[in-house]
Amino acid sequence: MTDALVLAEGLRKDFGPPRRRVRVLDGVDLALHRGEVLALLGPNGAGKTTTVRILTTLLRPDGGRATVAGHDVVRDAARVRPLISLTGQQVALDLKQSVRENLTMMGRLAHLPRRAVRGRVDELLAAFDLAGVADRRAATCSGGTRRRLDLAAGLLTRPQVLFLDEPTTGLDPRSRQAVWEVVRDVVAAGTSLFLTTQYLEEADRLADRVALVDGGRVAAEGTPAALKRQVGEASVELDLATAADADRVRGALGLPAAEGARVLAPTDGSLAHARAVLDAAAATGVVPTAWTVRQPTLDDAFLALTGHRTGAAGRPAGQSAGQSADLTAKEVAA
Ligand SMILES: Nc1ncnc2c1ncn2[C@@H]1O[C@H](COP(=O)(O)OP(=O)(O)O)[C@@H](O)[C@H]1O
Ligand SMILES: [Mg+2]
Repeated sequence: MTDALVLAEGLRKDFGPPRRRVRVLDGVDLALHRGEVLALLGPNGAGKTTTVRILTTLLRPDGGRATVAGHDVVRDAARVRPLISLTGQQVALDLKQSVRENLTMMGRLAHLPRRAVRGRVDELLAAFDLAGVADRRAATCSGGTRRRLDLAAGLLTRPQVLFLDEPTTGLDPRSRQAVWEVVRDVVAAGTSLFLTTQYLEEADRLADRVALVDGGRVAAEGTPAALKRQVGEASVELDLATAADADRVRGALGLPAAEGARVLAPTDGSLAHARAVLDAAAATGVVPTAWTVRQPTLDDAFLALTGHRTGAAGRPAGQSAGQSADLTAKEVAA
């Protein structure tokens, strides 16, 4: 794929002292196309940040190659840097300064002309819903506000590609929603986005394509819809007092016989279907001790796509990854 804005081929990275080197990246292949949002999805320690650090010229790979807009991230790093922006897991703000001062300072650090900084800062304050807190010290802002500020700072220079490394980790649900909204605006304005996340839901909400990292490689790749077809949609989970009660509910829902007092009823993810399932369960007259609607998690995705749970990652350097899942770029393109 020659038109890829970001391209990684066989990226390899080992860490640690000679005798105990650990292969963290073991042949990462990725492509981000112009105008696209790609989510690199994986649990803690999967190698997401390492990949991003290589792609943003901060770390040299031990093998493989990567380009941004055709420029090699190692040999042509100076050409790559003006095209990209990175917002990291750690927010890099001066907490003693105000929101506006932080943006202004970062604009200067990015060598933007003084006049341009002023206009751009005003634009970003408005776009990121920060105008109301512009004169507040960053120290007194909420975590969500700080993330929005950090995102705004990443866009001062109008990068062609924005790298967001776990933009919502640690945020409460409302702040997460607010960050998602501004990210969507950024993408709508034409910035291509390379995102890492531990949240299946986040990848689903934001990404055009999702790459699942496992064992230092991209183990599965495709659209969120294709991913969900494999992982399954939300399910209604009912806990009954006894296994006999559970059998009655399973019968009423047309589910196959199973053991235990917990009933798991798959849904198509719609409210209407979840409701139909609950109505049918309620009609049995059996009262559940607890019930919930359960969204698939990253762990469910791992199990469905790699055959193991997220904890089973990590292998000594030199040993290769196992079978990939059958969801591949080829299949999705077909
Ligand atoms: N500079 C480093 N030195 C040694 N080990 C590292 C270094 N950076 C990352 N690692 C290890 O590499 C693995 C992947 O880390 P990272 O890329 O940060 O994962 P993620 O961002 O997906 O959580 C982890 O096991 C981490 O401990
Ligand atoms: Mg990380």
